[in-house]
Amino acid sequence: MACQSWPEPVIRVQALSESGIISIPERFIKPQSQRPITNTSPPKNASNNVDEEINIPVIDMKHLYGDDKRLREETLQRVSEACREWGFFQVLNHGVSPDLMKRAREVWREFFHHPLEVKEMYANSPTTYEGYGSRLGVKKGAILDWSDYFFLHYMPCSLRDQTKWPSLPTSLRNVISEYSKEVVKLGGRVLQLMSINLGLRDDFLLNAFGGENDLGACLRVNFYPKCPQPDLTLGLSPHSDPGGMTILLPDDNVSGLQVRRGEDWITVKPVPDAFIINIGDQIQVLSNAIYKSIEHRVIVNSNKDRVSLAFFYNPRSDLLIQPAKELVTKDRPALYPPMTFDEYRLYIRTKGPSGKAQLVESSSSQT
Ligand code: OGA
Ligand code: NI
Repeated sequence: MACQSWPEPVIRVQALSESGIISIPERFIKPQSQRPITNTSPPKNASNNVDEEINIPVIDMKHLYGDDKRLREETLQRVSEACREWGFFQVLNHGVSPDLMKRAREVWREFFHHPLEVKEMYANSPTTYEGYGSRLGVKKGAILDWSDYFFLHYMPCSLRDQTKWPSLPTSLRNVISEYSKEVVKLGGRVLQLMSINLGLRDDFLLNAFGGENDLGACLRVNFYPKCPQPDLTLGLSPHSDPGGMTILLPDDNVSGLQVRRGEDWITVKPVPDAFIINIGDQIQVLSNAIYKSIEHRVIVNSNKDRVSLAFFYNPRSDLLIQPAKELVTKDRPALYPPMTFDEYRLYIRTKGPSGKAQLVESSSSQT
């Protein structure tokens, strides 16, 4: 791929926020229909406020490995429902130590609070996106999201290069290695549950991803600075995650993630010490759309910065991904053509957001 650079000077959102501006530059103002308030149904009355009462399913994983068979079955069933109906759920007692989760969050918070010159040493380019960045996409004049990020590869090992990870704070590289190792293991356990729930061999999804040594895993740490006009912009525009599955460590005291539920956007209320897990497009394909990769977005606020660690668990990028044979029947033909993750990313990049829908249509017209 040719070396690419940004189409215009990069705006560091955190520096903009810290400069004390009281109105945001036009580049960040979303069209009326995409702004956070207008898209949420107004509460009809205090007791009928969808957003206040609904949360994505919360699942305690300790029941999955306990002795109580009924509880085990019930919990598997809850995971199944969450994957089919929400595409999102929170997990508790997932095996990653809360202390490690806290340290991972803290080292990144500290990184983002270093002077701009330190962060700029890791400035990324759109060729790989690795490093410190402030925008996704290279369309000149695009409307921007209110966030900065740091993106790094963890797996496959051939792509892991710790010299591209921040060296400050000094503990960051070690903490992130330890954290990533544990989160990859958790990902393996969740894939196993999903495989069983789909009626497949328990190693089906992990194998489809290339197995534990070859799968792809990368981390995007999102930093959402406080925003003087949070009603006009978004921290992250609506999207579904293109990869396999995302394991998100949300901020421990600021919410912001919203999940699409019909016409509504449900604000996720993070449970202490839980991870938020969501299905990505590749699992939607492998499950022949029994599991859904749901659209989500992030809203910002005027009081507090927010940090989140999104760990993307992906198939090896050159493996063909297609609906599992067992899930393709006469009544439910394959909804997607076989495609590698690399081809898929290229496809949605060139077709834009409507690319995903077209993919389904092109597949059904082939059958
Ligand atoms: C993402 C994402 C949500 C969040 O990074 O893809 O959806 O809460 N993040 O930061
Ligand atoms: Ni996402």
